[in-house]
Amino acid sequence: MAASLCYMNPTMIVTTSHRSSAELWRQAEEWAQRIGARAVRRQGSLAHLCELHEADGVLTITNDRLVYREPASGLEYFFHPGMAKVRIHNIEVGRGDPMIGAMQLRPGDGLLDCTVGRASDAVVAAYVAGPQGHILGLEKVPVIAQLTIHGLATYEDSSRKVTQLLRRIEVVQADYNDYLPACADDSFDTVYFDPVFHEPVEKSEPMKPLRELADKATVTAGALQQALRVARRSVVIKQRYGTPLWDQLGITQVLSSRSSRIEYGIAEP
Ligand SMILES: C[S@@+](CC[C@H](N)C(=O)[O-])C[C@H]1O[C@@H](n2cnc3c(N)ncnc32)[C@H](O)[C@@H]1O
Repeated sequence: MAASLCYMNPTMIVTTSHRSSAELWRQAEEWAQRIGARAVRRQGSLAHLCELHEADGVLTITNDRLVYREPASGLEYFFHPGMAKVRIHNIEVGRGDPMIGAMQLRPGDGLLDCTVGRASDAVVAAYVAGPQGHILGLEKVPVIAQLTIHGLATYEDSSRKVTQLLRRIEVVQADYNDYLPACADDSFDTVYFDPVFHEPVEKSEPMKPLRELADKATVTAGALQQALRVARRSVVIKQRYGTPLWDQLGITQVLSSRSSRIEYGIAEP
């Protein structure tokens, strides 16, 4: 449990656009409940509103967007499936995908993505696992979890195929340290972790808001042990090249790609 103690939930409020309506206010109240925040009437700038309500961040509900912002740092976060479409294209033209390679994911597989974030990896997995597969994502941070659940249900990508993949992913707001022990033995083919890198990959600017908002705890030996019990085939962990985590967890099978500075550690039950 120690891993979960270091995450500090920022104080959040929920508001609407300046030109609000009874319906938007109803949605703001609903969102406030979902993320454990207070709904407040829009008044002046978001920075002013946060100051007034002693909040770190504010989720703004408008007719066409849901955006979480922390005015003091400039952080802006919203749901977007990220690089999933490019990665699916790479698979389609035969270039493959290192995460899928590490997982050895196949059509019909079940994947438990313990750190679903905004579900980019989960979308690529849903493509490979196909309609008979099952992708379940867990996310601990309420605002990330709820924006991802909402985004997966409502986001319309310019590609109909990607939109359909989004609809197939299930996400539960949960801490994997609590969720894994409640899973039956061998209940997923693969269990996956993509914890926040302690030293970020510089190129990865689009990941910055998610990284800042995320729980930054690393994977512990206890979580790996639970994941190995739940996985039928493998547990896969994504890390930055040169991570000390493989030694810490006793993982010896590692797929590296120096060019992308990413490594996948693979443990088998
Ligand atoms: C690097 S991001 C994952 C990005 C994700 N793979 C994607 O494709 O969008 C790590 C995510 O795991 C979440 N997380 C960290 N610890 C967690 C835990 N104990 N249980 C559930 N989610 C956790 C973080 O809040 C963050 O959203």
